[in-house]
Amino acid sequence: KIGETAENLGINAYIIGGFVRDLIIGRKNFDLDVVVEGDATEFAKKIAKLFNAKVHTFDRFKTATVVFPDGNRIDFASARTEVYRSPGALPEVDMAPLKKDLMRRDFTINTLAVKINSKDFGKLIDFFGGLKDIKDRKIRVLHSLSFVEDPTRILRALRFATRYRFELGSHTEKLLKMAVQRKLFKTVEGQRIYHELKQIMLEDNPLRVLNKLEQYKVLSSLFDNLNWNRWEKDLFERLRKVVIWHKLNFPESSINYHLPFFGALFLKEDYEDVNRYLSFLSVPEKEKKEILDMCRLIIPTIKRIEKAKKNSEIYSLLKSKSEEFILLLAAYPESEETREKILKYLKEWKDVKPLVSGKDLINRFKLKPGPIFKEILNKLKYAIIDEKIPEDN
Ligand code: CTP
Repeated sequence: KIGETAENLGINAYIIGGFVRDLIIGRKNFDLDVVVEGDATEFAKKIAKLFNAKVHTFDRFKTATVVFPDGNRIDFASARTEVYRSPGALPEVDMAPLKKDLMRRDFTINTLAVKINSKDFGKLIDFFGGLKDIKDRKIRVLHSLSFVEDPTRILRALRFATRYRFELGSHTEKLLKMAVQRKLFKTVEGQRIYHELKQIMLEDNPLRVLNKLEQYKVLSSLFDNLNWNRWEKDLFERLRKVVIWHKLNFPESSINYHLPFFGALFLKEDYEDVNRYLSFLSVPEKEKKEILDMCRLIIPTIKRIEKAKKNSEIYSLLKSKSEEFILLLAAYPESEETREKILKYLKEWKDVKPLVSGKDLINRFKLKPGPIFKEILNKLKYAIIDEKIPEDN
């Protein structure tokens, strides 16, 4: 239907970018980006009407998001057609708006497009040799100034190279090394660097990407005093496993999985340095506090857990902590026994409810409501956690 709508309006529409790249590579990707050679907001409104979907339009950027009744979404953007010409300039060679749009992008593998008009449906469009680069397993920039125009692409190049096990093209590698050497990161807003680092921490294996960043001296160029040694790497590996465990056990969870990885990166650094790094990255206040708390509180908390004689002591220690903190805590100890207890807190103890409720105390046991209620209910809860009474008794 999208293809027909495009055809009827006489507009060309294409799926572009990451979705097409991942389709060819064979990796799951649910982010559908559509570019139209025309007004994307008008187009998206028509699509939304056809599918009974919701549409959010951003008129300033001529982009729109359509959210379908089943929760799926598609982002629409208008291929940039505006041409800035100075009065005396020679007329520009006419170029398809799609090509102009794709030309601004980072790597050839991200410039593939698939036409979705009913006529020509499924036609692959490859202006910059992206298909060959996918086959050759290469990350290549489109032009020599790519990293200068946007130094965050340094991080993206190494993230994609790690994710797909691709190599950097040799010219691209030279340009990247030069960009790092010239400290181009200094010219970028910290929050854009943070955004890309966050994407790295959300990859399946952040450790491997950080090793690459270290190899290309990116880590030390971003964080002058940072240690990236055996200890940090082992912690990252344990954290990766804890996060996989968490995602398997709590598939609906919407916690910020990048935060414990940032905690792990900075845990052993001087508190003042961490503060400086996080300010440089303009990390949002809430996340900054969370990461700083991790650095401050992990070791004392682990010590108290190791000393705890009863499960309920661990429960009391952890119940005020965020899940992000607890994931890092679970990855921290080398002792499996301590780790098991922390994971058990998440899996079982956290949600233990005594079978007797406040209402029962009033109705069945004829007690008067008061502070004693909380005490009784807590005692019952602790008894279950300490395995003194079975849960359903
Ligand atoms: N892009 C770019 N330069 C950047 C960031 C993004 O050129 N600094 C372009 C890329 O070509 C990319 C598109 O914008 O294909 C969308 O960016 P994003 O959603 O971040 O990338 P994806 O390719 O979808 O990557 P991922 O699979 O990690 O979501």
